[in-house]
Amino acid sequence: VLANLLRDARELGAVVTKGDRSLRALGTALLQDSFTILALERTRAAGRRLHLIGINRVIRLTETALFGIEIGKGVRLGEGIYFVHTVGTVIGGDAVIGDRVVFMGNNTVGTARGDGYPVIEDDVVLGAGARVLGPIRVGAGSVVGANAVVLRDVPPRSLAVGIPAEVRPLARQ
Ligand SMILES: CC(C)(COP(=O)(O)OP(=O)(O)OC[C@H]1O[C@@H](n2cnc3c(N)ncnc32)[C@H](O)[C@@H]1OP(=O)(O)O)[C@@H](O)C(=O)NCCC(=O)NCCS
Repeated sequence: VLANLLRDARELGAVVTKGDRSLRALGTALLQDSFTILALERTRAAGRRLHLIGINRVIRLTETALFGIEIGKGVRLGEGIYFVHTVGTVIGGDAVIGDRVVFMGNNTVGTARGDGYPVIEDDVVLGAGARVLGPIRVGAGSVVGANAVVLRDVPPRSLAVGIPAEVRPLARQ
């Protein structure tokens, strides 16, 4: 768990400071709500591996009470995920979230018709209110615009905007 948290802090520091991997950036990461959430999630996963009764539910409820976020127990979280705003975000089922993914807030990553959950690859940015639904893949480095509803695969380094989301190549860095 500790090694995992160190990697979380390093990656989160890099996201928050836009690429700085110094000790100072690591310190910045430790002060983020995101780091607290990741620490709770790593503890929750370890508790479940050790079959500690009740820990899964207690930590899930704690996260929701403190941060207004709900993360399913089958979700796989990469390193250094950045919840810019935590409130209103729900990640469900067995969704997979890559490293350094940014959640702007009030996001849903879940199922569309009970037929599976998304994979969000590394370095994706989900704009405020964006929903990603179904057994789809959002490719690395893509940006999902605010309030978009993504129902189909998004290739890497794309921009997905609108309802249902339309995909175009990402123009900017
Ligand atoms: C998508 C976004 C990142 C802009 O990306 P960009 O690569 O700079 O794209 P552009 O601004 O050049 O817009 C490209 C096109 O998408 C459209 N677009 C941009 N954001 C959109 C959105 N959220 N919903 C619908 N269309 C959108 C633009 O109107 C433009 O359309 P056009 O080509 O027909 O004129 C930005 O608009 C956005 O939604 N950011 C989320 C920020 C956020 O959540 N902030 C909350 C902070 S708490």
